[in-house]
Amino acid sequence: MTTRILALVGSLRAGSFNRQLAEAAVKLAPEGLEVEIYENLAAVPYYNEDLDRPGAIPPSAEALREAVRSADALLIVTPEYNGTVPPAPKNAIDWTSRPHPGGAICEKPVVVIGTSGGRYGGAWAHDDARKTARVAGATVLDDVALSVPCAATRFADTPPVCDEEIIAKLPSVLAALASAAQPQPITKGVRHDNVTVSQPS
Ligand SMILES: Cc1cc2nc3c(=O)[nH]c(=O)nc-3n(C[C@H](O)[C@H](O)[C@H](O)COP(=O)(O)O)c2cc1C
Repeated sequence: MTTRILALVGSLRAGSFNRQLAEAAVKLAPEGLEVEIYENLAAVPYYNEDLDRPGAIPPSAEALREAVRSADALLIVTPEYNGTVPPAPKNAIDWTSRPHPGGAICEKPVVVIGTSGGRYGGAWAHDDARKTARVAGATVLDDVALSVPCAATRFADTPPVCDEEIIAKLPSVLAALASAAQPQPITKGVRHDNVTVSQPS
C-alpha cells in the first residue's frame, strides 16, 4: 500500500528554494511513498471565522481541508520570515485546525523541514511550525528535522535534488514520517486538482 504525503510549501514565489526542496522530496521518495505538492495555497483566504460557516466555506479552503484530510501525513517545507513561520503555512494550519476538535490536521503526522537564507536554515520557523501544528492537534514528529542554511548560495548552482546532503537525508525524513502514518481511505469522487503527484522516475 502506498503512503500518501502531502507537502505544503511555505513560500509562494516561483523560484522558491523550498518549492525545489519539496520537488526533491517528490523525486527522492522511497518506494511505497508518494509525495504530492499542494498547489493552491496562495488561493486560500486568510482564516476568518466569518468565512468558516457550514455550507459557505470558500472552495479553496474546503479543497485544502479535503486534501489534508485524505493525505496520510503532512510535510511542511518552509523558509523563515522574520524569525518565524510565513503566513501561507500558518494559514493552512489554521484552516485545517477547524472545526475543533476533529479538523483535518487533527492527529495527522507532521514533519517540518525547509531552507532559509540564514545560517540556521530557518530553525526558528521550523520550531514554531511544529509548535503551532501541535497546538492545532497534529501528531508532530519533533525529532525529525532538516533545516538547510544559506539557501541562495547553496542552491545557486546545485538544486536541492542534486545536493548530496539532501539526497542522503531526505529519504529517511520521509520514511520516518510515513512510519507514523495510518493510511486514510481514498475519498471517491474527490479530484486532486491542486496537487502534483510524484511520478515514477
Ligand atoms: C520577509 C522575509 C523575511 C525573511 N526573514 C528571514 C529570517 O528571519 N531568517 C532567515 O534565515 N531568512 C530570512 N529571509 C530570507 C529567506 O529565508 C530566503 O529569501 C529564502 O530563500 C526564502 O525561501 P524561498 O527561496 O523558498 O522563497 C527572509 C526573507 C523574506 C522575504
